[in-house]
Amino acid sequence: MTTRKILVTSALPYANGSIHLGHLVEYIQTDIWARFQKMCGHEVYYVCADDTHGTPVMLRAETEGITPEQLIARVWQEHYDDFSAFHVAFDNYGSTNSAETKAYAEDIYRKLKAAKLIDVRSIEQYYDPVKNMFLPDRFIKGECPKCHAKDQYGDNCEVCGAAYAPTELINPYSAVSGAKPEMRNSDHYFFKLSDKRCQEFLRRWTKSGTLQSEAANKMQEWLGAEGENRLTDWDISRDAPYFGFEIPDAPGKYFYVWLDAPVGYMGSFKQLCNKKMLESEHGIQPALNFDEYWKPDSTAELYHFIGKDILYFHALFWPAMLENSGFRTPTKLFAHGFLTVNNEKMSKSRGTFITARSYVDHIKNTEYLRYYYASKINGTMEDLDLNLEDFVAKVNSDLIGKYINIASRTAGFVSRKFGGKLASSRQLKDANIAALLAEFTGKRAAIAQCYEERDYGRAIREIMRLADLANEYVNDKAPWVLAKQDGQDAALHEVCTISINLFRMLTLYLKPVLPKLATQVETFLNITPLTWNSAEEMLLDHQIDEYKHLMTRLDPKLIEAMVAANRESLKSESHSPARHAEAQQHATAPIAETISIEDFAKIDLRVAKIVNAEHVEGAEKLLKLTLDIGEGKTRTVFAGIKSAYDPEKLKGRLTAMVANLAPRKMKFGLSEGMVLAASGSESGLYILNPDEGAEPGMRIK
Ligand code: MSP
Ligand code: ZN
Repeated sequence: MTTRKILVTSALPYANGSIHLGHLVEYIQTDIWARFQKMCGHEVYYVCADDTHGTPVMLRAETEGITPEQLIARVWQEHYDDFSAFHVAFDNYGSTNSAETKAYAEDIYRKLKAAKLIDVRSIEQYYDPVKNMFLPDRFIKGECPKCHAKDQYGDNCEVCGAAYAPTELINPYSAVSGAKPEMRNSDHYFFKLSDKRCQEFLRRWTKSGTLQSEAANKMQEWLGAEGENRLTDWDISRDAPYFGFEIPDAPGKYFYVWLDAPVGYMGSFKQLCNKKMLESEHGIQPALNFDEYWKPDSTAELYHFIGKDILYFHALFWPAMLENSGFRTPTKLFAHGFLTVNNEKMSKSRGTFITARSYVDHIKNTEYLRYYYASKINGTMEDLDLNLEDFVAKVNSDLIGKYINIASRTAGFVSRKFGGKLASSRQLKDANIAALLAEFTGKRAAIAQCYEERDYGRAIREIMRLADLANEYVNDKAPWVLAKQDGQDAALHEVCTISINLFRMLTLYLKPVLPKLATQVETFLNITPLTWNSAEEMLLDHQIDEYKHLMTRLDPKLIEAMVAANRESLKSESHSPARHAEAQQHATAPIAETISIEDFAKIDLRVAKIVNAEHVEGAEKLLKLTLDIGEGKTRTVFAGIKSAYDPEKLKGRLTAMVANLAPRKMKFGLSEGMVLAASGSESGLYILNPDEGAEPGMRIK
């Protein structure tokens, strides 16, 4: 076997939030892959870092009364601890706010500039005259130009889904200070993605097999047909005040966070090289050469695991930057889908927006989740569902009921009856076990291929099929019966020896997924760390340790408590001083212009009964509501409340609607009115509820 040199990364999590179970889909997935490759004996480095720059970090630090550097240092530690708890084993976990990342960002920028791929242009943008800063789209709010919903973000409307420019918002205001923003001019730096060289390179790159087919299709869409020039130049600068790296020879201009974020992959790897350099000087480690992994003639493999939401940055900007600045491009991008919980988007109000920390606090054993995710990951960009009931069922039936069970039902006899010693090959008499053992070792290549292709779900199915065979064997031989019979010691010894060996092989196959458990098993079996090549070895005439409990059943009550705590922690958090200060900063929208009672009377508001609520095929934000307002027929209203409500829970409820709004033709059908809902600058949407006793059709005045 030739040893591959592999550098693998996960996307760099933002330093302005906690790690949650959605993030972990990616980090667990990458970790399993890296561990598998290491088990195969390849030279593998897994690096990552915190993504620290940008306006949100700057503003949050200000709100908390600390420097951005203090904030990112604290978050770095939190992230690092969370990942460690889930056994995500980085070879280096850095920060984009590092000397190494800065040096490569500047180097790449200078090379792009020398290649005439940087342009400076004046652009017009909203400016907050109170806060004295230009406002990113996400920090401008106002009324949607299409559906007139209030308090929508500057880039798209959460109610009707329309996308627009911040300048199209009606009555815009700054989400930072509440002030009315002004248009101002400023010079911005652009990376000329529209340049022929970039377009041609990206077309070639898309076809080179670097991308999954779904991702390649997306790229085709972004690139357009041959000869077409759909790509536009990319704005890579932001004006002070900004937390980031100042652009060389451009005082007051900073690299946009997404310019230096992927460079953080290089920065983190460089840190690893530096660490190894020190160790090699002390004779501990062979040195690691940065250029061997990043120069165009590199024979090493480079893989980025990413979520589908950031494909654009990794498939367009990043390779185009590398290609034109004297570096190699990635071997492959591995994009994955998004996590849903119980088939819905993670939601703070439902308590399913679960942080890594709260999982650890409540459930402790993080390998349950690693196993569950592994059983669902298939290497595509499809979304993946964490069904909490299924989670408990699968962990208990597969891990405890099938896998651990093999050891727990046989190991005790080995210590009690045979002094902890497994039988020798001479003592094995059952001719039928050769076929069973061959079945186990014969799966080695197939399971390896599943891991290689990131189809962990298939790997788990194969492994559990083997576990079923092992259990059939144990049931068949019934060692607990043999133990009670006279003259059956040899047979009992043989059954236990074979069972322990089958258990060893299952552990080996599961080791990328369950690294901690595998270590415990290695101690129990008194063996050196399991590697992929040792699959066919047998433990015979071998002393093992006493069996101690390896894993307990997952109690569904723990899940309930965790979900409840995530619901509650939100409530208590909203009273914390930091939250309060933030709420003040994100001031409520200014009160609209005064109207007369006649103006108000024009709006016919009615109590409506939601007789039916359902999802709309293809709509991201909408639910289809069927409303009864006592007219003898029902009305259909499409409401942008999908993010906040499970349609099943809406059925039968009363709410308030605008009954005389002109019907509007939407992509999904005619909408005959509007239901009322409250929302603030934080995410979250609350439909109105009349007090008890109100009847459908009653007028609201
Ligand atoms: N900072 C950027 C990445 C820069 S990479 C040079 C970022 N950060 S993030 O914290 O928002 O997300 C980190 C990774 O987690 C991304 O790949 C993202 O797709 C993934 N996920 C975040 N939420 C997720 C789910 N709910 N489900 C699955 N993956 C998710 O993007
Ligand atoms: Zn709208």
